Amino acid sequence: MYQKGVKHLCDKGLNKLPLKYILPDSERPAAPYQSANLDVLGTIELPVIDFAELFGPNRHHVLLSLTKACEQYGFFQLTNHGISSDVISSMRDVSSQFFELPYEERAKYMSSNMHATVRYGTSFNQNKDNVFCWRDFLKLTCNPNDLQQLLSRWPSSPVGFKDSASTYVEETRALFLGLVEAIVESLGGVEKEEEMEELLKEFEDGSQLMVVNCYPQCPEPELTLGMPPHSDYGFLTLLLQDQVEGLQIHHQQQWVTVQPLPNSFVVNIGDHLEIFSNGRYKSVLHRVVVNAKKLRISVATLHSLSFDSTIKPWPKLVNEDNPRRYKDTDFGIFLEYITSREPKRKNFLESRKIIY
Ligand code: OGA
Ligand code: NI
Repeated sequence: MYQKGVKHLCDKGLNKLPLKYILPDSERPAAPYQSANLDVLGTIELPVIDFAELFGPNRHHVLLSLTKACEQYGFFQLTNHGISSDVISSMRDVSSQFFELPYEERAKYMSSNMHATVRYGTSFNQNKDNVFCWRDFLKLTCNPNDLQQLLSRWPSSPVGFKDSASTYVEETRALFLGLVEAIVESLGGVEKEEEMEELLKEFEDGSQLMVVNCYPQCPEPELTLGMPPHSDYGFLTLLLQDQVEGLQIHHQQQWVTVQPLPNSFVVNIGDHLEIFSNGRYKSVLHRVVVNAKKLRISVATLHSLSFDSTIKPWPKLVNEDNPRRYKDTDFGIFLEYITSREPKRKNFLESRKIIY
């Protein structure tokens, strides 16, 4: 029955956390991470990158801030991103409305197939998790080249879902392309304009996955998590969180809560960018804590190269002094990995490292 998700469970009425969601002591939100002495839970103000400034006369300066944010945090908040508040609020509205639909309506999109274009589900990896997470989600594949065809399979209710979500997808993709160009530039090594153009073309035809997450109010939030510690697989994730806190990142041996900043996106580095940058920009562990008072919704778009491409360190960044640190990796290898075991922390990326 837990496969039906936490929203369903809550709608039936609940004042105690079912056993299925109770984490062992060492994995609970307040548990020390690795070293008992270092861990204090605090909040963090992430570096802020002004997207509009990145495309103005100050580009050089903003690129330096971007480099620093990528190296020191792996996370930043993006302001002045140019996506209108209408587009964002309609995306928020249809997301909330989707989770308010009757269970039977949401359940139409349930699938245990990891390749499904539309997948409604619960927990982190519901086929593998021993303890379940306090989270339901809707995942939509939205690769640009077949978006029109994919759209026909997206949820037809709530009214306006397809319109709002497809606009949001297109606008976040454009934002990603601007960001990834800046990030590649910040890594250095681009000598000719054609090199950048070629690379950007690959990203334009790349993959995009949208995940709408729903974390209902939880009767005993200190015993469970909305999402366990994980890193994201792609190049970059653009996260739209609401004003309810919940996202925590692992920074300097501590779990710190990211303070929501109005009108911004939280952007983080994924495993593929860590590989591409040959380890210079690292993906960062993050998790989600839940709360007893307010339901929280977030929308993550995960961007990478196309599903049939091979991810490897960018040859420009590899030389005798800086040997290649990661093996070639493709989506097949990734999917095989995550479907065959309980996903944990950054284990997948660890398995792709070259040990000299
Ligand atoms: C994710 C994620 C964080 C959040 O979807 O991968 O980390 O706050 N989401 O929902
Ligand atoms: Ni994530």
